[in-house]
Amino acid sequence: QNQSTVSITVVGASGDLAKKKIFPALFALYYEDCLPEHFTIYGYSRSKMTDVELRNMVSKTLTCRIDKRANCGEKMEEFLKRCFYHSGQYDSQEHFTELDKKLKEHEAGRISNRLFYLSIPPNIFVDAVKCASSSASSVNGWTRVIVEKPFGRDSETSAALTKSLKQYLEEDQIFRIDHYLGKELVENLSVLRFSNLIFEPLWSRQYIRNVQFIFSEDFGTEGRGGYFDHYGIIRDIMQNHLLQILALFAMETPVSLDAEDIRNEKNVMKEYIPIQVKVLRSMRPIQMEDVVIGQYKSHTKGGVTHPGYTDDKTVPKDSLTPTFAAAALFIDNARWDGVPFLMKAGKALHTRRAEIRVQFRHVPGNLYNRNTGCDLDKATNELVIRVQPDEAIYLKINNKVPGLGMRLDRSNLNLLYSARYSKEIPDAYERLLLDAIEGERRLFIRSDELDAAWSLFTPLLKEIEEKKRIPEYYPYGSRGPVGAHYLAAKHKVQWGDMS
Ligand code: BG6
Repeated sequence: QNQSTVSITVVGASGDLAKKKIFPALFALYYEDCLPEHFTIYGYSRSKMTDVELRNMVSKTLTCRIDKRANCGEKMEEFLKRCFYHSGQYDSQEHFTELDKKLKEHEAGRISNRLFYLSIPPNIFVDAVKCASSSASSVNGWTRVIVEKPFGRDSETSAALTKSLKQYLEEDQIFRIDHYLGKELVENLSVLRFSNLIFEPLWSRQYIRNVQFIFSEDFGTEGRGGYFDHYGIIRDIMQNHLLQILALFAMETPVSLDAEDIRNEKNVMKEYIPIQVKVLRSMRPIQMEDVVIGQYKSHTKGGVTHPGYTDDKTVPKDSLTPTFAAAALFIDNARWDGVPFLMKAGKALHTRRAEIRVQFRHVPGNLYNRNTGCDLDKATNELVIRVQPDEAIYLKINNKVPGLGMRLDRSNLNLLYSARYSKEIPDAYERLLLDAIEGERRLFIRSDELDAAWSLFTPLLKEIEEKKRIPEYYPYGSRGPVGAHYLAAKHKVQWGDMS
């Protein structure tokens, strides 16, 4: 171990993601003693900057999550001393060769392991990978590259990207991040299901009426309109974050916690039947009539006017790009036949939240449905996994109201993380960066999984775009288009977050 070193190069170091997420996550890992003894961090981007300037920039973004601890400032100083900067073009072999020389100096003859985090626009992924792999990859250790979505815009462009990347890297060197998979409550989903006796036996069409995956943000595109307009909410959130969670939720029991065993139970590859991919491939093509799209418009509340989506200067005035979508999906397999999996994702809604809601079936012949305040339609059990904010898991149950009469109400069995655990929850990027350094691939997206995800959404996206489907407009800060209720009602479902 002492003979090896890890060099982490953040390509696109002056960008927003690097500043807000990657450097702070690396620092948190350092603080928690999770980084290897010998490591160096390089920021790489086009701007001219000295090491000191990079350190100043990074230091402003390090939120000492652990600032209650005395030595936080000291740790920050130590960490910053391990950060360096190299200015270069993303498509320049020469500049990556210069970086290679600098990395070698730090590595001082040890086994060199190199991790490149591509925090750059997708149109320059391939050039950067080409240069990094041919001019700056490790000669005696591993070289890994983390890439983050968008992985194309549809099946064709995604396949072309994968093909180009594979000219320079093996599949096991590519770490495709979906940061939702690094979120604590998403990681906990399998623990909840597979290490408690009471959930897994209920995890099927026999007991579950429907499952809902809800993502909402209480702010609009805010400066990201240019990027967003090219993708829209379906590509930005549904095709990846929500679909990944769905696959984890619905997969069969994996043989073990081994990355390949898990990812196999989430798809179907030629030589063997894989599991996470298998779920995705069992999904019924999404029907246009099972999809609602929306776009937020300007709204004034309490004297404050919030701009509409097309008021963003980087968005074309006539844009039809959805900022909201709701969809009903189905998995045609023995476990889930007929169970609606509803997804809802939107920007500029009334609240920020990400959650999974599992609504169970009615109690057959419920003895308590008369004159007890128990409304059969509403009184089903519901398991809620609140991914953020205020992480929590709660189960809605029917309970007798204390007293001499017989009245029921719905109460929660509640596991609120802030009340139960004193330790702060690590950011998703911390877990994923650590996994990439350790070569743990469980939470990263394999190319067959990516293909399956695109196969599901590409026909729908084409139809929406070719037919120029008009989104339903909703006011900024509202609960979104009414159409989402009709969609749920069509499948005999009520959105859990609306009740
Ligand atoms: C990103 C999307 O993947 O996830 C953004 O591109 C979105 O549009 C973000 O705001 C949400 O992430 P989080 O972790 O803040 O919920």
